[in-house]
Amino acid sequence: MFPTLEQIPEKFRVEPLDQDCYLVNGEIIKWTGARKDVFSPIQITENGQVKAYRLGSYPMLSADAALEALDAAATAYDLGRGEWPTMSVKNRIDHMLLFVKKMKEQRTIVVNWLMWEIGKTLADSEKEFDRTIDYIIDTIEALKTLDRDSSRLRKEGGIYAQIRRGPMGVVLCMGPYNYPLNETFTTLIPALIMGNCVVFKPAKFGVLLIHPLLEAFKECFPKGVINVVYGSGQETVGAIMKTGKVDVLAFIGTSSSGNNIKKMHPHQNRLRAVLGLDAKNPAIVLEDANLDNAVEECISGSLSYNGQRCTALKIIFVHENIADEFNKRYMAKLSKLKAGMPWEPGVMLTPLPETHKPQYLHELIADAEAKGAKVINEKGGEVNYSFVTPAVLFPVNSTMRVYHEEQFGPVVPILTFRNITEPISYVVESNFGQQVSIFGTDDRHIAELIDPLVNQVCRVNINSQCQRGPDSYPFNGRKDSAEGTLSVTDALRVFSIRTMVASKDNELNRKLLTEILEKRESNFLSTDYML
Ligand code: G3H
Repeated sequence: MFPTLEQIPEKFRVEPLDQDCYLVNGEIIKWTGARKDVFSPIQITENGQVKAYRLGSYPMLSADAALEALDAAATAYDLGRGEWPTMSVKNRIDHMLLFVKKMKEQRTIVVNWLMWEIGKTLADSEKEFDRTIDYIIDTIEALKTLDRDSSRLRKEGGIYAQIRRGPMGVVLCMGPYNYPLNETFTTLIPALIMGNCVVFKPAKFGVLLIHPLLEAFKECFPKGVINVVYGSGQETVGAIMKTGKVDVLAFIGTSSSGNNIKKMHPHQNRLRAVLGLDAKNPAIVLEDANLDNAVEECISGSLSYNGQRCTALKIIFVHENIADEFNKRYMAKLSKLKAGMPWEPGVMLTPLPETHKPQYLHELIADAEAKGAKVINEKGGEVNYSFVTPAVLFPVNSTMRVYHEEQFGPVVPILTFRNITEPISYVVESNFGQQVSIFGTDDRHIAELIDPLVNQVCRVNINSQCQRGPDSYPFNGRKDSAEGTLSVTDALRVFSIRTMVASKDNELNRKLLTEILEKRESNFLSTDYML
């Protein structure tokens, strides 16, 4: 399965990168301390032997270096008086447009790093990059609309007021390894464009792919507005959070990490948190479901990017009368999925970046087998170095770990239900509350399910897999699945706070306001707007 270096098409190869720099206060600083080696999930065959492939290394910053980055962000923000937080919206948008232009120039290399660092297919890596560019453009448009809507004075109860959204302060942004570019940027970009100053720490995998963007960050934003740090979370994030200088924590990852990071902040009321956390979205396949559609959506929902999506379908409830047929069709489709290297045309199943994941999945499978489930597909669960053949487990029950734990990998637990209260109870009792998918054709039945489910999760998908997009829709969750809502427009709100300038209506104040507006003396108190 794993190629020799020579077998890899030239355009998809990457030169190993030993990154010895990071970005603080508008300067790319050389790091001479410890570094961490990066190995690809893609193994390489050499002289007939499969070997781990070293992609390079990145800096392991000390706590002191991380604190310099935090200080740079705090100085640039200057308690709201810095150049960036007081800059006009138009000028901030101009900086962002310049960044988009420079980012686009790095598409090929970033896409290649995505494949090599996290094993994402070429098509999905390209989609991740392009979706991120679209997200930035949509964010700019949403900000223009917000700005237009705020560009007037209101008068209520004898008081004139102009209400705008102002920045929060210093933001710490951390994204997940499965979308190291896109999901990180869905917080980083709105945080920046609303006038906040940011410390950004890349995810645990997908670190080197940020390197080609460092120059663009440096050139496009005033110094200190964006700082990029690398290293162990304990050392860098711990030091940063304990200072109490972070105003917003934007984190996408596990709830245990998110909670630990949050707890380190000494002033809980100062800290606002935007968190995208754990999920175990179920599919519920009703007796009258269109099976071809249900199988198609469940395959893609459970196995695209090998199930490593927070929105993946992580457990499938099938009505007992159709379970045999569903399983037969699911496995027929699964057997046609192509496994291989990310750049191979039509490939869907690829190696996994987390070295412990094959062992963890093996434990989940063994536990389920010991409690009565079987791996029902051929070679299911077979491990080949970093590659794990998807395992379909059937019939799963509530005594098994895989019923409760978020597997985040290519294991597909399927179980039957007789009464619809069974999957509904699963959703109600679960600690997760992100999304659910229901498959069926009877309008009355579907409607009866929508109403109880919408108060358990934040998105009920009908005859469709769970997913985040389109990015203009809200992305959030109940219970342990999220804190705050992200969408193009919601994210602008999350990283800002409504702030107003108000004045009693009298002759002096009318004169003052008129002069400030006419002479364009304030960026905030202004009726100018962008088209
Ligand atoms: O990992 C969680 C992502 O937000 C999922 O996004 O549904 O577009 O794959 P997606």
